[in-house]
Amino acid sequence: MEDLSFLTIKNKRNFTNWLKIIKPFLESKEFQRRKLLFHHENQSLWHHCVKVSFMAYELALKYHADEKTCTIAGLLHDFYEKAWYYTPDLEKLQKRFKENFINPKKTKLTQKHAFSHPYEAYKKASQYFPTYMNEKIKDAIEKHMFPLSLLTKEKWPHYKESWIVILADKIDSFTNLQHQKNFLNI
Ligand SMILES: [Fe+2]
Ligand SMILES: [Fe+2]
Repeated sequence: MEDLSFLTIKNKRNFTNWLKIIKPFLESKEFQRRKLLFHHENQSLWHHCVKVSFMAYELALKYHADEKTCTIAGLLHDFYEKAWYYTPDLEKLQKRFKENFINPKKTKLTQKHAFSHPYEAYKKASQYFPTYMNEKIKDAIEKHMFPLSLLTKEKWPHYKESWIVILADKIDSFTNLQHQKNFLNI
């Protein structure tokens, strides 16, 4: 069992129900690899995604949204593989995780990580967890960078569940973000 003691658990039953939903993802080797990708200050991508998923689950209960959709979309919203920030841990992973650093040439703003990773995340989520995907999860993952999504083809989020994932992601990201200046670089 993973150590999830970093989560603030106010209601044990909610935590148990959330855990049941995310169990197959936590056990996935591909999801485990996100432990080696840096996200923001002092946390891995895995860590960030687990926190966003739990927060999205609790917000779904509060705002009467679909908990399963919020949980899964929260967990996979950053399931991209091309790391945006180089750390030596990337050497332990396959080459595909370092592609941004091997071939960093990008010209258009919308090709940079902040704009492109939601599409990459959904593509990878569909590849590794196809049976869990649906229209709401796709919408939440692809538009989680709102308002930046307004500059891409995807535009406005369509569902309450998408807004919940966006909110949970923003809360966790801005709490931890100390590298804003690097954010649009890749
Ligand atoms: Fe993201
Ligand atoms: Fe995120």
